[in-house]
Amino acid sequence: MTPRRGSDDIRINPSILAADFVNMQAELARIAGADFVHVDVMDNHFVPNLTFGPQMVGRIQETSPVPLDVHLMIDAPDRWAPGYAELGAASVTFHLEAAAEPVTLARRLRAIGARAGVAIKPDTPAEGLYDVLDEFDQILVMTVEPGFGGQSFRAETMPKLRALADEARRRGSAVWLQVDGGISASTIDQAAEAGADTFVAGSAVFGADDPDAAIRALRAQAQRHAH
Ligand code: DX5
Ligand code: ZN
Repeated sequence: MTPRRGSDDIRINPSILAADFVNMQAELARIAGADFVHVDVMDNHFVPNLTFGPQMVGRIQETSPVPLDVHLMIDAPDRWAPGYAELGAASVTFHLEAAAEPVTLARRLRAIGARAGVAIKPDTPAEGLYDVLDEFDQILVMTVEPGFGGQSFRAETMPKLRALADEARRRGSAVWLQVDGGISASTIDQAAEAGADTFVAGSAVFGADDPDAAIRALRAQAQRHAH
């Protein structure tokens, strides 16, 4: 098959869910070599956990050395997601399971100037997205059940990712394929080989003695599979 992208198109996005929330500025400085900072917004409704909302994300936006990749694990994203784009986030990803009008919402996010992302939980099929791939800049295939960091990677999501990557290639789509949950030195090869190009890693980066070295190592590992 013809290549969809090369090794320069690999992105490592550390998740600040694994950072020290009361030292956020210092934690952000530890990942200055990342491509984006992954910001997990949870509302205690869509997922059984609560993190922070627009006020905190706005301060992270002002403080972060790298652009923001906001992952909204919230109900009613049609109502709330545009506000995160207006804060200046580089990308805003909402869950397909929670959105009333996913394509309309993606268009609004793009109109504000953000990359539009849609996420699917491990048990949500991807086929429904095939005909609307062009409406999105990135698709997040969750590799754990959303809600908590530090869970084990679910390899059974890989056939869905591979099928999505094949479909994107077949359609000549430039959509980024992101994975999130349990990504580490021992799992990133599987995800990269299946076609992911954007990797969220929380504990594997912030749990390392040298987060920037961990980012570089993960990126180098994924680049070996670029296709
Ligand atoms: C989980 C979040 C993830 C989480 C990943 O619901 O969406 O972004 O921070 O954490 P690790 O990499 O530790 O699995
Ligand atoms: Zn996330």
